Amino acid sequence: MAKAKKGAQARGNYSNLHQLLILKLEALYDVERELVKVLPKLAKNATSDELREAFEMHLEETEIHVERLEEAMDLLDVEPRAEKVEGIRGIAEDGSWVIKNIRDDAARDAALIAAAQYAEHFEIAGYGSAREWARLMGHTEVEELLSKTLEEEEAANEKLTELAEGGINERANADQEQEEAEVM
Ligand SMILES: [Fe+2]
Repeated sequence: MAKAKKGAQARGNYSNLHQLLILKLEALYDVERELVKVLPKLAKNATSDELREAFEMHLEETEIHVERLEEAMDLLDVEPRAEKVEGIRGIAEDGSWVIKNIRDDAARDAALIAAAQYAEHFEIAGYGSAREWARLMGHTEVEELLSKTLEEEEAANEKLTELAEGGINERANADQEQEEAEVM
């Protein structure tokens, strides 16, 4: 019997969970590599030092997420390959729109957080499914790699919430009230 085709060679056969896991890793690989390009732009356009540092720290983690996915694909015996995900490109466009259109510094910071949290939630959903599939099929090492990344995505998301609720949203609101007072 011919050896079962794997990874990219098995395109078109997504009828089993193993193939779906590989496809999900390939999609996450695309997502993470896009975010390696997006995060420096978010950092560059953040006004709050804390927010800029949070984006820079998550960029370093994201570079590691790319490597972990390569490792996971290697463990599953497939060549690292990216499956293009339109969703993350839409989210990246949202970030670009914010940078281009929001003039007030505090409002832009609040909107950058909102845009970045779309990305985090997107990733958390993807990693959650992939990790569960890996666990179910007994790919323990892959499951562990995905768990580590998932935890970092969740921590990054919480950090963004903390920054939003810890002053950035209030500053945006205060700027708005000041503007309204000036108009009157
Ligand atoms: Fe990530």
